[in-house]
Amino acid sequence: MNKTIVAMPGDGIGKTVLPESIRVLNAVGFEAEYVHSDIGWDFWCKEGNALPQRTIALLAKHKIGLFGAITSKPKDAAEKELDPSLKGKGLSYFSPIVGMRQHFNLDICIRPCISIKGNPLNFIRKDGKGNYTEPMVNTVIFRQNTEGLYSGIEWTNPPKNVRDAFESHPKWKAFKDVPNEELAISTRIVTKNASTRIIRAAFEYAKKYGFKNVTICEKPNVLRETSGMMLKIAKEMSKEYSSIALWDTNIDAQMMWLTKNPEDYGVIVAENMFGDIISDGFAGLVGGLGFACSANIGEEVSVFEPTHGSAPKYQELNPSIVNPIAMILSACMMLDHIGETEKADRIRKAIAKVVEEGKVKTYDMMKLKGGPEVFKHGACTTQQMTDEIISNL
Ligand code: NAI
Ligand code: MG
Repeated sequence: MNKTIVAMPGDGIGKTVLPESIRVLNAVGFEAEYVHSDIGWDFWCKEGNALPQRTIALLAKHKIGLFGAITSKPKDAAEKELDPSLKGKGLSYFSPIVGMRQHFNLDICIRPCISIKGNPLNFIRKDGKGNYTEPMVNTVIFRQNTEGLYSGIEWTNPPKNVRDAFESHPKWKAFKDVPNEELAISTRIVTKNASTRIIRAAFEYAKKYGFKNVTICEKPNVLRETSGMMLKIAKEMSKEYSSIALWDTNIDAQMMWLTKNPEDYGVIVAENMFGDIISDGFAGLVGGLGFACSANIGEEVSVFEPTHGSAPKYQELNPSIVNPIAMILSACMMLDHIGETEKADRIRKAIAKVVEEGKVKTYDMMKLKGGPEVFKHGACTTQQMTDEIISNL
């Protein structure tokens, strides 16, 4: 029986790259039906909801989503662009991808950052003897996807009961004279249950794929409660995995070690925001946003997406210049998830071959500034990159 995949292109270049990944999925012989689904800025403006109920219903029914990217704008811009008939109705914009992660409890976010041989964007490092080395990075980041600093529990001008609660903390002394309307509070909430799930997922992945270490990357010396809880759980759990070393690093030091010894890190696990930061950092070593793929896994529903956004400045370019590889690699993660590993591996091999041959490159792979003139310098279009991958399958 054919699978049904909920295809959510979203905004900007999401609309460009998602169809490219479907072309590759078709070419590799993956038999599926794709139901188009609405998400993103247009639906905020027209309907006051960037994540319409009909999209939630389709995901609940079919369980697997492929997502492109959405555009988010700050609060004021969001209100200004809302259809006049919807203004003043107390609607407030929220990011539909964050909403989707929270609604379906897509709490396990997996972001592999793996160097492809020959990628001109690979990180290189001086070895101290006048030579350059190109460390091959093979790191998979497990980011807690639903809570932590992105839980969305925050206030400007907090209500009295919230302020009262904060007043009860001895450290509040430093803020006691701040007028309420000059106060902005974002909370970092970490639960034992969700932390255990993400750390378990990280260890299980390391075990399955033979990684030698799992790094818990937090900041428990300062964030004693939230990071402290995560570290404690990781230490306890690591006793069950005798062949995997548990390393613990602080987020700030980790970002420095990123360029020192990135090849040493196997699986890294972190809270939502720290995982967001680390995964972009590692993505920068292996080709950047044009190569960064991700999976959001829940107990029932899973959604696969490139980590890049909608890149509005390129959305109007025709032909398109953006790199479809991040989206195509995300589709490979979807195939892995539903047990079609052989097809995923074939696509990844085809991508590796195209990258290593280096004949066909998108503008980012040539380190060009984006714009219509990139073709004059030999960059390929989005569609040409996909064609080349397909011809290598
Ligand atoms: P972005 O990821 O859209 O773009 C940043 C820059 O990265 C682009 O200008 C471009 O130079 C490069 N880039 C991105 N994707 C590329 C690709 N496939 N190939 C080649 N180059 C690529 O991030 P930005 O500009 O910060 O945000 C733009 C919009 O996207 C915002 O509205 C933001 O809220 C939204 N966004 C959405 C995300 C999502 O849907 N998951 C994630 C990040 C941002
Ligand atoms: Mg990010």
